[in-house]
Amino acid sequence: MAKHFEIIPSLLCKSKKEFLTKLKRIEPYVKRAQFDIMDNVFVPNKTVQPKEFKGLKAKINIECQLMVKNPADYLLDCCRMNAKLFIFHYESYKNAKKIISFINQIRAHKMQAGIAIKPATPAIKIKQFLKLVDMVLVMTVQPGFGGQKLLPSTLKKVKQLRQWAPKLDIEVDGGINKDTAQLAVKAGANLLVAGNAIHKAKTVPEGLAAIKRNI
Ligand code: DX5
Repeated sequence: MAKHFEIIPSLLCKSKKEFLTKLKRIEPYVKRAQFDIMDNVFVPNKTVQPKEFKGLKAKINIECQLMVKNPADYLLDCCRMNAKLFIFHYESYKNAKKIISFINQIRAHKMQAGIAIKPATPAIKIKQFLKLVDMVLVMTVQPGFGGQKLLPSTLKKVKQLRQWAPKLDIEVDGGINKDTAQLAVKAGANLLVAGNAIHKAKTVPEGLAAIKRNI
C-alpha cells in the first residue's frame, strides 16, 4: 500500500476572492489543497487562473490540476504561485513522446509531476508513465463541476493502477464523501480530493471527520 493517506480539499473557484476565502478556511486543518484550473475548452467551465496568484504564500502545499487544452501554457504561472505539484491530463497530449518531455519540463520548473485520466480513459493508457510521475489522479466524475455523484466504474481503474504500482500515490477526485470514501480506499486510493463534502460542511473539521469516519 502507498506510504500515506490524505484528504485534500479542492479549490474550484470563479474569483481570486473565493479562492483566498476558501484557502483561509481550510489552512488550519489540512496539509495540502488542490487548485482546479479550467479553460472552458478542455471542460465546459472556466475558473480563476493561476496568474492571479503570483508569489502566493500559502500555509499549505498547493497542487494544481490542469483541466486545460494546453497545460504547457500554465507551467510558469503555477511555478510562480509556488505550486508543489503540477497534474496534467493524459487526454491533453496523448502522445507518449510529448508526455515524457512534458514531465521533464514540469520538473525543470521545480514542481512534482502527476498525470490524470478522465472517466472514459482506460488505465492502460498511462501504464508506461507510472515510473516517471510522482502520482496519478483518477477522475471519479466527469471533470468540470463539483457536487456530482461518483462513477463506480472508475474505481476499477484505481484497483488496476494499485496492482501495477503498489507504492505510488493514487488520488481520486469527484463525488468523495462519507459514503464513497471507503470504496475509493478499498480500491487502492490513498489521496482523496473532496469539494462539497468539505466546503458545504458546517465546519472543516466536521467535514473531514465525516469523510474519515467509515474508512
Ligand atoms: C471537478 C473537480 C473536483 C471537484 C470536486 O472537475 O476537479 O475537484 O471540485 O468536488 P466534489 O467533491 O463536490 O465532487
